Amino acid sequence: MALSFTTPNQHSRIYSVGAYRPERIVSNSEIVDQIDSSDEWIRERSGIQSRRFAGKDESVIFMAKQASLQALERAGISAQELDAVILATISYPYQTPSGATELLQELGAPKPAAFDISAACAGFCYGVGMAADLIRSGTARYVLVVGVERLSDYTDENDRGTAFIFADGAGAVVIGPSVEAGIGPMVWGSDADNRDAILLEPSWLEIKEGSEKKWPDISMVGQKVFRWAVFEMAPIAVEAMEKAGVTADTLGAFIPHQANIRIIEAMAKAMKLPESVAIAEDVRLAGNTSAASIPLAMDALLQQRPDLHGKSALMIGFGAGLVYAGQVALLPPLPTSSR
Ligand code: UT7
Repeated sequence: MALSFTTPNQHSRIYSVGAYRPERIVSNSEIVDQIDSSDEWIRERSGIQSRRFAGKDESVIFMAKQASLQALERAGISAQELDAVILATISYPYQTPSGATELLQELGAPKPAAFDISAACAGFCYGVGMAADLIRSGTARYVLVVGVERLSDYTDENDRGTAFIFADGAGAVVIGPSVEAGIGPMVWGSDADNRDAILLEPSWLEIKEGSEKKWPDISMVGQKVFRWAVFEMAPIAVEAMEKAGVTADTLGAFIPHQANIRIIEAMAKAMKLPESVAIAEDVRLAGNTSAASIPLAMDALLQQRPDLHGKSALMIGFGAGLVYAGQVALLPPLPTSSR
């Protein structure tokens, strides 16, 4: 005999977004000497003009908390009403317990389900997809999805291939039930045969066994990742639009992972996005903040273009693994306080 239950929510949507940017702004000129580079080269090859590095007191959980509090306040939902917290990060410095549980303690709401996702720069989109499905299935009503990174801790300041790219910050969204379709199906997957293109190494075991390097740093075969992103990710993004039943000309915004302005522009060109679509370019001032980059870029875009509240946005995250995930979602409505 079949089980007897009903799923209360046909749809879900993003209620709000919150962001936290560390106080310290780091210009290109501050790092070029270490890597024998120039402001011009960095701007031309990546679009990055500056990024933020977290200070001593701006821990992963501190930044996640600030972004979460802003998102909760804008949604008009208390932390006690949350059913689950999903934290996407690769830079929480403890293997267990999860960062999500520390965040819950900090929010004064220690009861919801809580777990971390290790899907690097795709982590936020993985989280949004899971939250949407948890809500549609009736498992949860309100879910907080946070993307946060302190990549300055895991970047070798002398590495020419990464020192100018990776940075710190946090973004969060509150997701809840909706009468209209607000989050489209997620298109996700991986290319695990190329998992060595981005590595955080050595492992703790290797360090314990006396490896030469005493601390894990990110290494990246930049060109390989660049080509994969440019050629493989545009068709994934198109598939996400098809699955959500939208076309490029009805899209409000394109908010891809903020890895490199040239990747963003190449993807937009490959998808033939019309000029009416607003394209997030937060990488210029934020660098690559991995799991935090999409919610940070979403918040920045909505600050610049408040008319985009409630419009549809195509999101796609891709990175270490190599893994990816994308979906179309309605951007949050104007926060109650500013309506
Ligand atoms: O978030 C996860 C996903 N990550 C990404 O999507 C990142 C993808 N990759 C990239 O964004 C780009 O590959 C980078 C921005 C990392 C590098 O740009 P590139 O255009 O791929 O540079 P390249 O590695 O092909 O190097 C081009 C030249 C080389 O010189 P030659 O051989 O042409 O004489 C490098 O030695 O630039 C040189 N170079 C640098 N010059 C100044 C490499 N790094 C630097 C540097 N400053 N930091």
